[in-house]
Amino acid sequence: MNTPSKKRDVWGSKIGFVLAAAGSAIGLGNIWRFPYVTGENGGAAFVLLYIIFIVLIGVPVMLSELAIGRHAQRNPVGAFRKIAPKSLWPLVGLMGVVTGIGILSYYSVIAGWTFGYFIKALGGSFSNLTSAEQSSQIFTEFVKNPYQCIAYLFVFLTATGFVVLGGISGGIEKWAKILMPLLFVLLLLLTLRSVTLPNAKAGLEFYLAPNFGKINAGTIASALGQALFSLSLGMGAMITYGSYISKKDNLAISAGYVCLFDTLIAVVSGLMIFPALFSMGLDPSGGPGLVFVVLPSIFDKMPGGIFFGAGFFLLLTVAALTSTISLLEVAVTYFVDEFNWQRRRAVLLMSGLAFVLGIPSALSQGANSLLSNLPLVHLGFLDFANILLGNYSLTIGALLIAIFVGYKWGIKNLSAEITIENNHFYGRPFWAIVIRYLCPVAIIVILLYILLTGNYF
Ligand code: PHE
Repeated sequence: MNTPSKKRDVWGSKIGFVLAAAGSAIGLGNIWRFPYVTGENGGAAFVLLYIIFIVLIGVPVMLSELAIGRHAQRNPVGAFRKIAPKSLWPLVGLMGVVTGIGILSYYSVIAGWTFGYFIKALGGSFSNLTSAEQSSQIFTEFVKNPYQCIAYLFVFLTATGFVVLGGISGGIEKWAKILMPLLFVLLLLLTLRSVTLPNAKAGLEFYLAPNFGKINAGTIASALGQALFSLSLGMGAMITYGSYISKKDNLAISAGYVCLFDTLIAVVSGLMIFPALFSMGLDPSGGPGLVFVVLPSIFDKMPGGIFFGAGFFLLLTVAALTSTISLLEVAVTYFVDEFNWQRRRAVLLMSGLAFVLGIPSALSQGANSLLSNLPLVHLGFLDFANILLGNYSLTIGALLIAIFVGYKWGIKNLSAEITIENNHFYGRPFWAIVIRYLCPVAIIVILLYILLTGNYF
């Protein structure tokens, strides 16, 4: 193991960290994944479960990851090793590094579509859409084209590698500060248009009036997976980001802000998508193509639609970029810290690996029939990876992190890290109970429930 000899880079300011961590959290998870998973799982009841999981599992695991990272000042594997030497705990960190590269691979495919849609919007492809079918057809044809999808995947991963090469305060932080607020403004404008479309009410009802009959083991697992995915938890991204936070910052407050911003963006995205979707008469359980089919028709019904359409997909690409840099950063920090690799070498090899692994996902939307419908699971490769890594791996990671902090590292040490430099740990007794008992028990019960009912997907 290497002890980092140089002084570690730190975030330039507190707000810079909150925005960068929010940048990791806010991304396709909120605007692409949240609406489609909500649609597949029946709407409002799922949203309610998701919010409960954010508060009771997301916030404490976020706090735990940030504290582990800041305390150890290392990548996830090194952090577990420093706190619990000669144990199996570093394997949890390693699982995170592997999961991160896996998520990066398919996530970048969707990010590539987003960038491709930016180019399409610029070229006026969404002007004069007359029907929902027309919009669906544009999407199906776009994702079926293997060369295009692989080329966009390549472009996107190159951009990710480029920013990660710039290091912490110079690269990631600078971008996040400017672009995240802009995305939010555009999201609000599109939401305004969506809720004033004809028949928007049916969409609002689907999204906001819960029907608990629609909940089963699969719904619960997806809601938990979505909460963790959206907050970038369970794979060490927040351990890595935490390792660059200054000791002066109050972790509890920063964690709270990140969770709040992320949830706000997801909830607003739902408000943007569902009214428009019902107004177009589309099926909410349409799968991963949902936002790509629905959004163009909103632009079409706005003055300056080309401008809004292109602007939105461009900012969404950037939001995806601030997430992929955190996915890549986990593996890069790992190789730089543990094996003394040059940053450049780590970036090249890891983004190259993600590119190769991303190809089957890029071909799974109609370009290749086997990859589009895998035997046994009857899902496309991308969907399958998204559930396996984005739900289950993160859920198991979060379970192990809660157990680690609750029982191995201990609430006392967690609290000592948080209250360093006279910072206050708000609600300490409450969070202690949540981390030690509620999080692990809830996650274990959910996993058992899924095992027993066989409702895996
Ligand atoms: N949270 C990111 C999003 O919502 C995705 C992500 C997951 C990033 C896990 C890092 C780690 O888009």
